[in-house]
Amino acid sequence: MKNRPSGFGIEKLPQLVRGEGSCLFDAEGKRYLDGSGGPAVFCLGHAHPEVNAALAHQFEQIAYAYRYLFTSSALEKLTATILEACGGGFKDIVYCGSGSEAVEGALKIALQFFAARGQMEKRRFIARRRSWHGNTLGALSISDFAQRRRAFEGSLLDVTFVSAANSYRRPDGVSGENLAAALAAELEQAIVNLGPHNVAAFIFEPIVGAAGGVVPAPAGYAQAIQSVCRRYEVLLIADEVMCGSGRSGTWRALEHDGIVPDIMCIAKGLAGGYIPLGATLVTPQVAAPISSEHGAYMTGHTFTGHTAACAAGLAVQHIVRRDALVESQAIASKNDDTSQIGQQNRQIG
Ligand SMILES: Cc1ncc(COP(=O)(O)O)c(C=O)c1O
Repeated sequence: MKNRPSGFGIEKLPQLVRGEGSCLFDAEGKRYLDGSGGPAVFCLGHAHPEVNAALAHQFEQIAYAYRYLFTSSALEKLTATILEACGGGFKDIVYCGSGSEAVEGALKIALQFFAARGQMEKRRFIARRRSWHGNTLGALSISDFAQRRRAFEGSLLDVTFVSAANSYRRPDGVSGENLAAALAAELEQAIVNLGPHNVAAFIFEPIVGAAGGVVPAPAGYAQAIQSVCRRYEVLLIADEVMCGSGRSGTWRALEHDGIVPDIMCIAKGLAGGYIPLGATLVTPQVAAPISSEHGAYMTGHTFTGHTAACAAGLAVQHIVRRDALVESQAIASKNDDTSQIGQQNRQIG
């Protein structure tokens, strides 16, 4: 193959020409089973005819309407769909183009919330060891991933890290039964040490992805840390970029724990990889002072709420809901019976 770009090993990568269902095809005609859906992105497989048709339709109408002067049917319908899928706990959605931006938006909304309340000293973030929240400077600052941070040390935010919530790697002397309580106590101590009046938010992945494999927290953990955060007026940010949007048997991963965080980040499966799309969701309690004092979220970008990206998200989420994919995933994992997922994949593939 001639005239391929080179450098950093890109010339050694297979050049993809097509995707179909769970398979990828390269320029040499080789077929790959896309077992991971890229970095945990695709939830409907490749070249889904209904998603492609919805996108073609959107492109015929208009590809992009500037979010701060116009709205669009795709954006409004997607917003209603997500808010409903979340069970009514959130009020506003700020769209963006990636998981990192969704996290960045969450951090800024937390800061803006306290600024709107005149609490300008609440600026600090607490995050967890062995976590991954993204590659922008803010998101990288709250991520404990040494290899990816190393080149940027010195310019990252000063963030406090507490232990990972991993039943297989417990802090010394902590038993499995006491793990959730011990981790909540450690968070509380970190807040007290920093001074609660200085702490804006605690951010965590309900199920750790890139930095650990698939690591769920112990039972009771999410509720325990939420009550610590509430006690000290610290916002709770859930990063559901990898584990949310229907990935964990419920649409929100934290539905299992019966809690709604103050701010939540989603991306990856939201538009299933058809067009980059991420979002930051905000509860009414967090939205209220921002709305009354500032009148808008100060996190927007040129492509916030990109129309075609919203159309992709809407088409993907419509199929997820119509075909009850979240429910069948939950039933399948409960019964340890993968045949139902297989059935579903055949329908949509
Ligand atoms: C939990 C989590 N948050 C944020 C991100 C960053 O998302 P993106 O790579 O789309 O910027 C990732 C990416 O893997 C992630 O797993």
